[in-house]
Amino acid sequence: MTMADRSPRTVADLMSSPVVTASPEEKVAEAAARMRAHRVGSVVAVDGDRPVGILTERDLVRIAAAGADTGTVTVREWMTPDPDTVGPDVAATTAFASLAERGYRHIPVVTDGRLVGIVSMRDLMRVAQIQPADRLAHEVPKGLEGVVVAETTVGDVRGLEGFYHYRQYSAVELAETRSLEDTWYLLFRGDLPDRAAAEAFRAEIAPLREVPAPVAELLPELARRAPQAVPLDLLRTTVSMLAAIEGFRPSLDADRTELERQALRVCAVVPTLLCATWRLQHGLEPVPPDGTLGYAANYLAMLHGRVPAPEHARAIEQYLISTIDHGFNASTFTARVIASTGADLGAAVVGAIGALSGPLHGGAPSRALQMLDEIGTPERAEAWLREAVARGERLMGFGHRVYKTDDPRSVMLRGVAERLGGPKVAFAKQVERTAVQVLAEMKPGRRLYTNVEFYAGVVMDTCGVPREMFTPTFASSRVIGWCAHVLEQAADNRLIRPSARYVGPPPPQPVPPRDETGSQPGGAGS
Ligand SMILES: CC(C)(COP(=O)(O)OP(=O)(O)OC[C@H]1O[C@@H](n2cnc3c(N)ncnc32)[C@H](O)[C@@H]1OP(=O)(O)O)[C@@H](O)C(=O)NCCC(=O)NCCS
Repeated sequence: MTMADRSPRTVADLMSSPVVTASPEEKVAEAAARMRAHRVGSVVAVDGDRPVGILTERDLVRIAAAGADTGTVTVREWMTPDPDTVGPDVAATTAFASLAERGYRHIPVVTDGRLVGIVSMRDLMRVAQIQPADRLAHEVPKGLEGVVVAETTVGDVRGLEGFYHYRQYSAVELAETRSLEDTWYLLFRGDLPDRAAAEAFRAEIAPLREVPAPVAELLPELARRAPQAVPLDLLRTTVSMLAAIEGFRPSLDADRTELERQALRVCAVVPTLLCATWRLQHGLEPVPPDGTLGYAANYLAMLHGRVPAPEHARAIEQYLISTIDHGFNASTFTARVIASTGADLGAAVVGAIGALSGPLHGGAPSRALQMLDEIGTPERAEAWLREAVARGERLMGFGHRVYKTDDPRSVMLRGVAERLGGPKVAFAKQVERTAVQVLAEMKPGRRLYTNVEFYAGVVMDTCGVPREMFTPTFASSRVIGWCAHVLEQAADNRLIRPSARYVGPPPPQPVPPRDETGSQPGGAGS
């Protein structure tokens, strides 16, 4: 008997029963208490034994975010009514694919309209993990959307609620109240520093911002030989040089202390490498890092050659905090895959930069700004936006794969932009309002709102960051997230090695006889 034969096959084998239920008229606080007592992530609202709704942990967060009083609002007001259900005889893999596709975490199990159990994504994942690869390959959606591939304590994104967090804290709240260094500390060390720890951390990082001499000597030559290279490509190259010159060892051979030292080094020096190569490409001398300045002020100083206005430094700092981590995005996944091979931390970061450099990931904050330029004046906005959507074009800075409500980063950055003020900000707000209305009307039901890129571009532009440095600036803080994930992967590693479904001509086909006039095995041209 194979492992797959022994494994449970249907929803009935995996579901939990009896189900923790609630009455739709019950107060949310009572239902939430029951959820906690039974340590479950949802309650099913029932009328007799018929499921009429589901209330999940996500709903509790939405309720808290809306400032509603759980002691007075009822389950009916916040539950998802008429939830999708599944039959007990459905194959576990089919149920898994359906949950993953729809983004549910729990689904009630129903026979003849009666609630008989509940099954969670986590239950189904257990089966998926022990299915033979060829079976699983049919079930996993293309692009791995919704598939859980690892466990993490770094952070998470809850798209439907418009919420994301680092460790146990709201990322937006961290951006509003803490420094980048504190947030960096949180991601590397697991908790927020007290004053003494924060000062010690700043002192530890300051000297690590310096580019080591053997790398610094190569930078002018690199900028001269690759005048057309974009800043992220230069960063990919210079991080690789740094890791090689400083002799980063395979992560498999390094302990946590050594890996964390390398991670601090890379995160501290990335802004210096970015600014130095950008200045060299523009015929300017690199500006050395200033250990007395905070992360963002130092970044702007190295870019412009002068200490920035405090409100600009703080605005950029808030942007950088908000972009440190964002779920299992393509570059973070890349970093973890490379770390899982035991390769050195430099290799993981270089790979992640490569993934981020792709237009589908690194995004287009400069394109959102370009759109504002093209619109030009407020009175042209509506006609311009309508015509663009009618032509089937995408409005830059709107829509998101995960967020189907306001992107929390855009909400925060709108506030940052408002604080900075200026004509571009007022114009952007007006375009945003108009675009959201136009999209709601012309793309009904698609739930398209502003994404992080829209106000990121406005904020960076207002603070004088050149457009070609928008995505690299994003990379300079995302490297902290990548490294936190590499440290986590290395601490509890298993090689990430999925499978592919072969769809070519059926093998084995006979190898055609060698063409006598062609190349010889082992000879030139083989
Ligand atoms: C971010 C993005 C790629 C997410 O796309 P997605 O989740 O794959 O969404 P889809 O491509 O399935 O789009 C769903 C529908 O909304 C429409 N839509 C999505 N974003 C849109 C936008 N910015 N402007 C106009 N229509 C948009 C699509 O045309 C599609 O309409 P259809 O059903 O009539 O074909 C997409 O919203 C986009 O291209 N935005 C503009 C570029 C951008 O801002 N990128 C930065 C992202 S951080």
